[in-house]
Amino acid sequence: MKKDRYARMDNNRIDEIIEKHHSEASSLIQILLNIQSENHWLPKEALERVSEKLNVPMTRVQHIATFYKAFSLVPKGRHEIHVCMGTACHVRGAPRILDNVQDLTGIKPGETDLDLKFSLETVNCLGCCALGPVMTVDGKTHGKMAPAETANVLKNYE
Ligand code: FES
Repeated sequence: MKKDRYARMDNNRIDEIIEKHHSEASSLIQILLNIQSENHWLPKEALERVSEKLNVPMTRVQHIATFYKAFSLVPKGRHEIHVCMGTACHVRGAPRILDNVQDLTGIKPGETDLDLKFSLETVNCLGCCALGPVMTVDGKTHGKMAPAETANVLKNYE
């Protein structure tokens, strides 16, 4: 079934996460991390719910949510693709891998598709240059990529 573009985590699930942390304001970051990890981004309504339940001002919640890179305030896909464009990967054909990923997903780096399936980013090195060209999906490394293999990798994700 097609996902609603603006599908949001429901309040019951947010409340469960908050209760797991005993509704303690000191657990604010951990609670936001849990929501981010399940929902892949932090909708404004979720932040408002956390603010209300923990009795922490919305300005404080927003400050935390914008300060840490782990959080996203814009919709993110269920799967995060990173294509390495560092020098070692670049000379081994990374631009063609990126082209293929863009063609297959219909998105460019920094974007998320309308079904919230994939988000795409480029990075400058993933620390495994000998495996170049490299891409990761949800942190899983796919090395020595050939352009034709990208479809095989991406088809495993729903
Ligand atoms: S340059 Fe791509 S992993 Fe280092």
